[in-house]
Amino acid sequence: EHKPKAVIVIFGATGDLAKRKLFPSIYRLHRSKKIDSDFAVVGVGRRPWTNEEFRSNVSDSIQSSIKQSSELDEFASHFYYHPFDVTNPSSYLELKGMLSDLDGKYGIPGNRMFYMAMAPEFFGTIARNLKSEGLTATEGWSRLVIEKPFGHDLPSAQELNDEIREAFSEDQIYRIDHYLGKQMVQNIEVIRFSNALFESVWNNRYISNIQVTSSEVLGVEDRGRYYENSGALRDMVQNHLMQMVALLAMEPPIKLETDEIRSEKVKVMRALRPLTEKDVPDYFVRGQYGKGESEEVSVPGYREESNVDPESNTETYVAGKLMIDNFRWAGVPFYIRTGKRMTAKSTKIVVQFKDLPMNLYSNDVDSKHPNLLVIHIQPDEGITLHLNAKEAGGGSYVKPIKLDYCSNCVDQFNTPEAYEKLIYDGLRGDATNFTHWDEVSLSWSYVDTISKAWETHKAEFPNYAAGTMGPKAADELLEKDGFHWWPITDMVD
Ligand code: BG6
Repeated sequence: EHKPKAVIVIFGATGDLAKRKLFPSIYRLHRSKKIDSDFAVVGVGRRPWTNEEFRSNVSDSIQSSIKQSSELDEFASHFYYHPFDVTNPSSYLELKGMLSDLDGKYGIPGNRMFYMAMAPEFFGTIARNLKSEGLTATEGWSRLVIEKPFGHDLPSAQELNDEIREAFSEDQIYRIDHYLGKQMVQNIEVIRFSNALFESVWNNRYISNIQVTSSEVLGVEDRGRYYENSGALRDMVQNHLMQMVALLAMEPPIKLETDEIRSEKVKVMRALRPLTEKDVPDYFVRGQYGKGESEEVSVPGYREESNVDPESNTETYVAGKLMIDNFRWAGVPFYIRTGKRMTAKSTKIVVQFKDLPMNLYSNDVDSKHPNLLVIHIQPDEGITLHLNAKEAGGGSYVKPIKLDYCSNCVDQFNTPEAYEKLIYDGLRGDATNFTHWDEVSLSWSYVDTISKAWETHKAEFPNYAAGTMGPKAADELLEKDGFHWWPITDMVD
C-alpha cells in the first residue's frame, strides 16, 4: 500500500482548529500507519513560539488518546514551529529553507500540503507569496487546503478564488467542508447507489419530502465576532446543508470519480429554483435565540453573548425549503434547518415516502405512518427504516416498526474523525470530498438572495428560546405544505 509522504504546513498552527481537530487527526493517521512514518509538520503562526512550546501544545491536544508517553514524544518530535509574518517575503524564504531541510531529514520528495487554518483575509496573500517565493516549485506535489469561510458572499468568494488561482490550479485546491468527511455523509451515496430497494424509488413518484436537520446545543461561545458577520445562513447552510442536499438529490454519477460526482452535484445546484428577494419569506425562516434553558441550565440570549451587538440582527437559526426543478425532483420539497441553542446536538436526514394510493387499514388509527428512511449522521451514525407491520396477537392492527442499523455501535473505536479522513484524502490527492469552485459559487449565489432579503428587512428577534427547536414560523413553513418536521430524537415510540 502506498503511504503518502509529505511536509504538512499549517498556517494558524497556534489556533483552535489546529489543536482541536488537526493535530489529533494527524496523530490518528500516524498511529494507524496510514501515512509514512517519516512525516513532518510545520506550524506557522504569528506568536514567537519555539519548537518545544509548539510540541507541548501538540502533546496536550492528543494526551487523552495516548497510552505511553514515549509514543507521545516520538510523535511530537515530527512537529516544528516557524514564527511568521504573512506579509514579509523573507518569512517565506526562511520557511522554504526549513522545508527543504525537512525533506532531507525525512527523505520526503518535495511534497507539500499547505493547510490554511487561520483568518481568511490572509489566504490570498499567503497563496501568492508561496508561489512568488518559490515554495510551490518543488520536485513533488503542492496542494492548498483551505478552511471555511470561503468568502462572505459571491463577490468576495470570487475575489478570494481569483487570488488563490493565481498561485494554485483548481486541481491543487482542496476546499474543506468538514461535513463531507463525516462517515454517514459519505454513506449517502452508498445507501443510494448500492441498493436496488432505494434507488428505484428515489424520485418524486415515491418521495413526498426530504428533511435535513443539523441542530446544535451550544450557543456562539467565544466566536461572537466571527458569527456576527456570518450568521447561520453563511456558517451552515451555504456549505454543509447545501452539500448534503446535493448528495441526496444528485443523479448517479457515471463513475465514482471526483469530476463525475462534482458535475452531478453542480447540476443539482443549477436546478435549484431561483428565488427573488420577494420570494424569500415564502421559502426561508430565520431565528435568533433568546435566553432560555439549555440542558437544565439557564443561558443568556444571543444578544447578551460577548462580542455580539445588543441589537444584533444576526440569525442563529435558519429553516428553508429548497425546490429542485428537474425531472426527478419536481414538486418534492427539501426542507433544511439548522440552529444554535436548540434542544439537541443532532444531524439527521429524513426521507419521507408518499402514502400508498389506497389505505386498506384506514379504520386503524395507527395506519397513518408513512415509510421513512432516516440517515443518522451524528452523534449516532446509522440508518433506520420505518415500516408498517401487523401487530402481534389476534387483531389485524397495523403497527409501525423500525429496522435499525447503528454503525458506530458496531465500530465505535474505529470511526475516523471527519478531519482525519479529509487530511488523508488530501495527502493522497483525492479531491472527491472537497468542494469545487463551481459548487461554491452556485451555493453562494443562491444564498446571497436570502441574505440580501434579510438585510433589507429587520427581524423581530429574539424569536425562539434557547433550548427549543426554533421559531414557530419554521413549523408553519411545513404545515402550509401539509407536512411537519419529524422529531430529531426517537421518532416512533
Ligand atoms: C462549523 C461551524 O462549520 O460547523 C460551527 O462554523 C458549527 O458554527 C460546526 O458549530 C458544526 O460542526 P459539527 O461537526 O460539530 O456538526
